[in-house]
Amino acid sequence: MQKLIQWIDARLPIVEAYEKHMSKYYAPKNFNMWYFFGSLAMLVLVNQLVTGIWLTMSYNPSAEGAFASVEYIMRDVEWGWLLRYLHSTGASAFFVVVYLHMFRGIMYGSYQKPRELIWIFGMLIYLVLMAEAFMGYLLPWGQMSYWGAQVIVNLFGAIPVIGEDLSLWIRGDYLISGITLNRFFALHVVALPIVLLGLVVLHLLALHEVGSNNPEGVDIKKVKDENGIPKDGIPFHPYYTVHDLLGVGVFLFIFCAVVFFFPEMGGLFLEKPNFEPANSLKTPEHIAPVWYFTPFYAMLRAVTVDLFGLSAKFWGVVVMGAAIAILFVLPWLDRSPVRSIRYKGLLSKIALLVFVVSFVILGYLGIVPATEGRTKAAQILTTLYFLYFILMPFYTRMEKTKPVPERVSG
Ligand code: HEM
Repeated sequence: MQKLIQWIDARLPIVEAYEKHMSKYYAPKNFNMWYFFGSLAMLVLVNQLVTGIWLTMSYNPSAEGAFASVEYIMRDVEWGWLLRYLHSTGASAFFVVVYLHMFRGIMYGSYQKPRELIWIFGMLIYLVLMAEAFMGYLLPWGQMSYWGAQVIVNLFGAIPVIGEDLSLWIRGDYLISGITLNRFFALHVVALPIVLLGLVVLHLLALHEVGSNNPEGVDIKKVKDENGIPKDGIPFHPYYTVHDLLGVGVFLFIFCAVVFFFPEMGGLFLEKPNFEPANSLKTPEHIAPVWYFTPFYAMLRAVTVDLFGLSAKFWGVVVMGAAIAILFVLPWLDRSPVRSIRYKGLLSKIALLVFVVSFVILGYLGIVPATEGRTKAAQILTTLYFLYFILMPFYTRMEKTKPVPERVSG
């Protein structure tokens, strides 16, 4: 074994890579449970890839055969029901894990210098993940798959001048059809997973270049021992590989409970109209995207006025796009001298709370049908969402912060 490793190592430095990224990668010793979600995101990614490959073996990507092939997988393919539920539940789990992972980054200021690029790669992952989920959702060819895609692709039509041509180009037809299904299948199964994997590699390389942040936002590289090892750092392997296994255990317990007992999650993970085959002549009474898109969907619907000769729909798309785009520049909006929320002032704490509450309520408003009162609420909450970012350069500079200790304290 030793000889084999030496032979490979002379040609490809695997030992060096192992040491750099595992046994001699010194991570802060004070990680808490919020640091589980990065490795859990990788676990869910692997689950999606593996179950996705096996689903593809029995799935038929055509308007005529797609719906029936999913039923075939559920009823006739050995363990097909499990593959499908692992994949559909995995999609929702991916967003749960990624949202918590992003929240951790926001809470501990992990996007601040020198980790801006880790954040940017993370945001690109988030964008690709949304595209991946959107295209995957069309594949079962149910009523909600069909009409959800119809609504979202039509949004591009609101863009002046090029809009109509653009949505036609995306669909490849005048309405969502088998042609659209074929291209979404190709993108969902081949193109986007490759991009996603590449981005995850870049995300981790950028992380290992500068090292991880921690719940206190203390820079552990400032205090090193005589060997140049951070005094508050511990080797990733074995300490955090074992630590992360605890997270994996708890996660799998909850994940399996959902897969085996509540795979539809009351219509939240698998929506009811999607058990009916797509029908271009019958619009469902209420069209709503899957829960992970609903905060942005609520923002889209919150815009109700035409402005400067452009439709409310267009401005809704602009607001929705801006809500995501503004997250990219977060590292440059936060002017605080400290990273972690633990040492920030009261204003930052209140702002973060308002932001999270707004996002969650918007998520709810995007699921339920719109009424006048709900649209008003969505307008107020969308404003609060944006104020969190727009006012950040001011409140992070104005407030009094607590002094950050030299070393991690807990
Ligand atoms: C497929 C999705 C993703 C995977 C597999 C992934 C993986 C990871 C891993 C393994 C870590 C190190 C462990 C940890 O700190 O939890 C990490 C750190 C980080 N990720 Fe991600 N990530 C993903 C998506 C994202 C997204 C969407 C964002 C934000 C937009 C993001 C931002 C960050 C940041 C800022 C760090 C550094 C955290 C710190 O040092 O405190 N990641 N990621």
